[in-house]
Amino acid sequence: MAAQIPFRSFNEKYVCNDDGNFSYSSTEQKRIETMLFENYNSIVLEPFEATGDEDLTELTILRQRHTAYLLRYLKNCPSSYATLDASRSWMCYWAVNALKILDAEIPKEIVIDLIVFLKSCEHPDGGYGGGPGQLAHLAPTYATVMCLVSLQTEEALRSINKETLFNFLKKSKHESGGFYMHEGGEIDMRSAFCALSTCVVVGLPLEEISEGVAEWIISCQSYEGGFGGEPYTEAHGGYTFCAVASLVLLNRFRLADMESLLRWTTRRQMRYEGGFQGRTNKLVDGCYSFWQGAIFPLLDGEMEREGRSLEKGLFEARMLEEYILVGCQSIHGAVDLYNTCYVLSGLSIAQKYSLARDGKILGGDVNTLAEINPVFNVTVASEQFAKEFFTSQ
Ligand code: FPP
Repeated sequence: MAAQIPFRSFNEKYVCNDDGNFSYSSTEQKRIETMLFENYNSIVLEPFEATGDEDLTELTILRQRHTAYLLRYLKNCPSSYATLDASRSWMCYWAVNALKILDAEIPKEIVIDLIVFLKSCEHPDGGYGGGPGQLAHLAPTYATVMCLVSLQTEEALRSINKETLFNFLKKSKHESGGFYMHEGGEIDMRSAFCALSTCVVVGLPLEEISEGVAEWIISCQSYEGGFGGEPYTEAHGGYTFCAVASLVLLNRFRLADMESLLRWTTRRQMRYEGGFQGRTNKLVDGCYSFWQGAIFPLLDGEMEREGRSLEKGLFEARMLEEYILVGCQSIHGAVDLYNTCYVLSGLSIAQKYSLARDGKILGGDVNTLAEINPVFNVTVASEQFAKEFFTSQ
């Protein structure tokens, strides 16, 4: 019998069908499907059909090229990145976390430069800004702390002023239960997650900032089952990740309407593309490989802790691997820091599920990525290193 193509994504049975009714969203959907099919056809289907050789369908992560790109950007960013001046600490985190997931070596002088640079982003009153001299903000505070954790050195962890950091976290608390992103700023789901995850990863007392947060988070669960950024807003993968991870950190997960959350989350995986969309009726995007993909191990972990059973892996991990290796990887290597970080984080999660379910990952062992802790989005090794360091202090 002729060999069968082992891919489950890009099956023409599942292409968009709008019954001939023109709409902007269905046109865009078809455009994405065509683009993905072109990639799939040239790098998987044609070589396979010409030879029947299944080995040609095993795609490789371009580890060296991604590593070279990430290290180059850590040393010297092109001027096109000037618009991200308020996100410089984020750029450090995206690059370092991606390098750690790739299991790449970061030269010592870059590690030292990063510690010095991130220290210069620390506000004298606590917390971090997106760059030197900028106001303290919870998003770059999360990014900076996770970057320092990811570096896995005592110098990096010692550089965090936990006392002023805790003052900043307490000052960011709002009477509604949520947190301000920065003094006088917006209160949304990102700030809750950034405050709680930062507090926990450095071993500060969560109970001192957790009053009313779980209830505030639940007030953002929408009628669809996912969470919005604020009460009464549309469910979105980024905010749903923040909500679920925060509830896990607070150990208050059972407050959520689990059934509708499961329904919403499982329906965000695209049946043709294999990747995730961020919200209903929108397009697939690589970064949701993490924002949506990380929700599954969090749900599995919670169910296990509560002794409730849930069919493991309520998403198609193999299809997510296929989407990422066919559609998200440039042959020139990484092309931007944000997506590289979240695509690799999502791929690491998918690999763990594929290994547990099928005993193998797409592309074989050479593609194995480091395991991440989905609550913080740092590698398990980094989180363990930080835990040991802060417990021994
Ligand atoms: C796109 O919205 C939004 C994103 C790509 C980012 C979503 C991520 C978060 C909100 C989480 C942030 C977390 C932290 C820790 C700061 P869009 O409307 O452009 O795209 P869409 O059409 O895919 O919804």
